[in-house]
Amino acid sequence: MAVHIEESGLETILTLQTDHTCYQMKVDENGYLLHLYYGPPVGGQDMSYRLRRYNRSFSPNPPGVGAAQDLSLDWLPQEYPGSGTGDFRQTALQAEVPGYTGCDLRFARMKQERGMFSLSGLPAVYAHEDEAETLRIWLEDEAGGLSVCLLYGVLPEYDIITRAVEVTNIGEKTAVLCKVMSLSLDLPPAPTDMVMFRGTHADERLPERVSLPYGLTQTESRRGFSSHQANPAVILCGPDTTETAGWCLGAAFVYSGSFLASAERSQFTDVRLVMGIHPEDFSWVLEPGGTFTAPEVMLSFSAQGFAPLSDRFQRAIRRHVCRGKWRDVTRPVLLNNWEGTYFQFTGRKLMEIAAQAASLGAELFVLDDGWFGKREDDTSSLGDWFPNERKLGMSLAELASRVNALGLKFGLWFEPEMVSPDSDLYRAHPDWALTVPDRDPATGRNQLVLDLSRREVRDHLYARITEVLDHASIAYVKWDANRHLTDVFSQAPGVRSQGEVRHRCILGLYELLERLIRRYPDILWEGCSGGGGRFDAGMLYYHPQIWTSDNTDAVARLGIQYGTSFFYPASAMGAHVSAVPNHQTGRVTPFETRAAVAMSGAFGYELDPAKLSPEEREMVRRQIRDYRTYSYLFQKGYYRRLTGIGDPYRYTAWMHVSKDGSEAIVTAVCPLSRAQSPFECLCLSGLDADASYTVKLLLSSDPEAKAFYDRLGPLTGAALMRAGLPLPVIHHDAGSVQVLLQSTKADF
Ligand code: GLA
Repeated sequence: MAVHIEESGLETILTLQTDHTCYQMKVDENGYLLHLYYGPPVGGQDMSYRLRRYNRSFSPNPPGVGAAQDLSLDWLPQEYPGSGTGDFRQTALQAEVPGYTGCDLRFARMKQERGMFSLSGLPAVYAHEDEAETLRIWLEDEAGGLSVCLLYGVLPEYDIITRAVEVTNIGEKTAVLCKVMSLSLDLPPAPTDMVMFRGTHADERLPERVSLPYGLTQTESRRGFSSHQANPAVILCGPDTTETAGWCLGAAFVYSGSFLASAERSQFTDVRLVMGIHPEDFSWVLEPGGTFTAPEVMLSFSAQGFAPLSDRFQRAIRRHVCRGKWRDVTRPVLLNNWEGTYFQFTGRKLMEIAAQAASLGAELFVLDDGWFGKREDDTSSLGDWFPNERKLGMSLAELASRVNALGLKFGLWFEPEMVSPDSDLYRAHPDWALTVPDRDPATGRNQLVLDLSRREVRDHLYARITEVLDHASIAYVKWDANRHLTDVFSQAPGVRSQGEVRHRCILGLYELLERLIRRYPDILWEGCSGGGGRFDAGMLYYHPQIWTSDNTDAVARLGIQYGTSFFYPASAMGAHVSAVPNHQTGRVTPFETRAAVAMSGAFGYELDPAKLSPEEREMVRRQIRDYRTYSYLFQKGYYRRLTGIGDPYRYTAWMHVSKDGSEAIVTAVCPLSRAQSPFECLCLSGLDADASYTVKLLLSSDPEAKAFYDRLGPLTGAALMRAGLPLPVIHHDAGSVQVLLQSTKADF
């Protein structure tokens, strides 16, 4: 049993148990739901002994405790704090109810269920009935007329606990919700550090570790999308936590819109973390009887550093968030024409690229932006999803079938959520875009955002997209979204509150995606938002892979993929080899290094193959062959970071290792060479200490690396993990090696 409930007298202890963690709460004699513990198992111990009573001045005492001055919500650890009743820390819930203020939540009832809860209209972790358990706890503020159902999902094998919240108006007055956090967690042991994943377009998810000062430390997006600037996932940890030691706790929001993750260190040094839809620009009108559902947060705890924490999130997201046929199937190696041609192509050029892609061994040709309307640059046509047959020189169906005849699948780019002011769609329905009446809207990349909160807009998009998908043989769709939300105003009749529109647009997006993925279960969907501007667990529920970043430079990707790997699986990270000088950074890196870095994700090429040299063409053939041979390691193995990314003169390294430790691929890239580099050895992870491993070079930018590894005899797992795998000294920038380790033990 993953959920244990023990009642004694007026108190109840609630314990959620995973294979390696335990989460405990208590309903106290006053009906408050208190947080007792989250960490490694404690042998069935009732952890209420950690709660203290103490008379602290200026910490008010709640009603119903008589003259006792030693109890206060100001410092009691709570599961879902209300407001206005003596807790001055950040609140989880704020509502405006006429004739009332604040929110005093007390335990009402609970219910235990087999399986994982689901949330209507929202993405959420899913599982079979026998893999998970759910606990629902209702708290009520009777006078304010609000009922809050806290949902807890327990996925024991993955050490994942999920949380979500449903707020119901049980009163007679209309309430307006102003803040509904999905998670609130009061932590002793107080973390000292928080790791956030920040960035910008083409430089996403770079980890930033900060010490938590008194007060608030926040990472957030107010952009309507989860954003390049801040990823909706954070880690809290102690001062000494490393990849392999120390405690840490991760929280990932299963949501793709504006969000807030905020840690507050209180006056007594403990820390409260809240995570949820960003309360700024949010409000939700809740009529009597109505319910609002706040999206899910995934939680995990590791007592052995970041590596196990990442394993748990990566595996749980790959197996229990990503869905559909492509969840487990090896993804095809693709060639995308974007960086090869941008908008300037003809049907003939596309066929030339596709023919070359086929001869090199690629499996999927993707036609990116520019195939519809009259789009020759980014100034027009979004919304006009009609193939430009004049430009293509044929129908889209004909193009797809000619590509198929080469032995390749055909894929297509869309950007459905957007509209160009210069488009027939906008001319016909200007009110379908988010714009404020009588005010010129801000544009981004010359485009506006469609109001997906409107049913007719979604129906129109569904009709247009299905029309295209039904009339050509399309095996893959890249779903892009290239700007953030401004002028958020819905012109739909009867909108109750403009504060609902941002969230309703995300709900609309999810609804549209759900209809499409159900109708086309065989299509491989790749998410994208100017690269990784919406790389979150919410989108991964609909798209099993996401274009990680518009930055295809191998050195820049070291940091981007490193940061992404803290929560997200390698199978979700679209990664392509592109031409040099790189179009984003101007850097020239060896071809082998670009491939070694891209192979660590959902692999492909994004260039004009006609421009490859004969040697490069040969390399591409070998790379595709090797990627396919070892795709089970690249896409499904455990992904382990072996170094940090701080020092450009040293190798950045990672490995993909099989669950049983019998096989692994290690990749290492050193951004800058120097005259006298140190001799580096990489301590590996996840191998069998007693097994012996052969070491074989798969790929290197250094012609001498093969001889270097050929000289190494088989090495024990113990030696490779404790003393390390030697890395060659390479005398050029962005030098790389990719090495295959295979156990010689027969019983694997
Ligand atoms: C975005 C994507 C790119 C490409 C272009 C096309 O920037 O991230 O990969 O599809 O749009 O306009």
